[in-house]
Amino acid sequence: MRRLTALICVATAVTAVSGPVAAASQEEMIELGRAVYHDKTRGNCISCHNINDPVANLPGNQGPMMVAMKQRYPDKRKLRAQVWDATVANPLSIMPPIGKHWILSEEEIDAVVEYIYQY
Ligand code: HEC
Repeated sequence: MRRLTALICVATAVTAVSGPVAAASQEEMIELGRAVYHDKTRGNCISCHNINDPVANLPGNQGPMMVAMKQRYPDKRKLRAQVWDATVANPLSIMPPIGKHWILSEEEIDAVVEYIYQY
């Protein structure tokens, strides 16, 4: 019984610690995604896609606005695949194949997907 109590204590402690840590890393991920999206030397998504974020500066309109992403991409993996290589859906796409051409790291792509998924 004492072992069981100890086990429950450990499990509770682990849950208590992992909760806020997971939340913080999600926030960090979104911050990284925001930086990547708006930074001209990184993803530079803003040069083609407007987004309803107050930090958006001189957005372009060559691509569609990032809006209703959850509704339009219920499967987040499909959204990621679109970002990774837009030429799969449209071989003549002017959107650079971000993942295929190593324009961003896999981590940065995950982050930018998390960021746009909020809009
Ligand atoms: C040079 C312009 C350009 C850049 C830079 C660009 N895109 Fe695109 N993107 C487009 C165009 C144009 C489309 C429309 C579909 C097509 O033609 O492939 C598109 C489509 C998309 C779509 C699908 C939109 C929808 O309505 O379903 C997503 C998501 C997307 N882009 C995300 C991004 C992200 C994230 C970045 C930055 C990492 C980015 N794009 C950079 C031009 C661009």
